[in-house]
Amino acid sequence: MDLKGKSFLKLLDFDAEEIEFLIDSAMDFKEKKKKGISHEIHKGKNIALIFEKTSTRTRCSFEVAAYDLGMHVTYLDPSGSQIGKKESIADTARVLGRIYDGIEYRGFGQEIVEELSNYAGVPVWNGLTNEAHPTQVIADLMTIKEHFGHLKGLKVCYMGDARYNMGNSLMVGCAKMGIDFTACAPQKYFPDEKLIEICKTEAEKSGASLKFETDPKKGPKNADVVYTDVWVSMGEPEEVWKERIEELSPYQVNKKVMDIAGKSAVFMHCLPSFHDHKTQIGEQIGKMFNMDSMEVTDDVFESEKSIVFQEAENRMHTIKAIMAATL
Ligand code: CP
Ligand code: NVA
Repeated sequence: MDLKGKSFLKLLDFDAEEIEFLIDSAMDFKEKKKKGISHEIHKGKNIALIFEKTSTRTRCSFEVAAYDLGMHVTYLDPSGSQIGKKESIADTARVLGRIYDGIEYRGFGQEIVEELSNYAGVPVWNGLTNEAHPTQVIADLMTIKEHFGHLKGLKVCYMGDARYNMGNSLMVGCAKMGIDFTACAPQKYFPDEKLIEICKTEAEKSGASLKFETDPKKGPKNADVVYTDVWVSMGEPEEVWKERIEELSPYQVNKKVMDIAGKSAVFMHCLPSFHDHKTQIGEQIGKMFNMDSMEVTDDVFESEKSIVFQEAENRMHTIKAIMAATL
């Protein structure tokens, strides 16, 4: 499998074999790490991490994965560089591309990371845009494979805001890998029409099915994985909370939803999550709308069905596999 020099911008750019290779390679790296076997295969290389939005998992995963591979890292925070304010993306790309061996970008429009990649001359990795979160979905697929032993034929139900980065990327990942995907949400929160059309073609090739369901009692039926994400994403205005709560509350993942899914179903979430009042926003919005939790109830989040922390750990192993393969 030769992915050397290739950017990782969206899952549509990779075929099922390549995705499976990245998952299996991440599993190998995970085993090596647990056994304390060194894997500094990119010793002496340097990477830049650009974050125009905040992060815990993605940043830490890129940093630790880079150190484990023997690399050095520069972190550029949302305010600490000239990007966008005094220097265009194309100019930034041409500067950083001469200094670094690879560049991670987290920010707003997908077109920004695509432009960065067009000009950088080195691999660019998408650490989240409004439209896509592809490194997350590789970690999700790895976690699903670890749990069930395979991917093909499983059923994933995504509850809630399916029109943003997570819903989009998960739909693509499932369609590519032969996993039945259901988006369960009000119609206006279904993924982008054009992306659905592309995914239908992918699903035909892989044997996956795609469903779009507005009834929260039907969507999760027989799902192996119930997945959700926050109702208001980074960069969206605070004012949308009211509307989101009104429209998405019926799609909250709670015990009833997990019961509909069935005994062997697991719960997944990219995190961070508003499942209690132990965060500033969780408390503020929760009190304002008289809700203990938002997209998932605390009992489901804390239940044995929840594999969210295994999923979070796998971000590091999968990001390592993506960097190792593309550098
Ligand atoms: N899931 C995820 O991308 O988390 P961070 O925002 O903490 O990076
Ligand atoms: N949809 C969320 C994902 C966070 C990992 C956001 O964009 O904020």
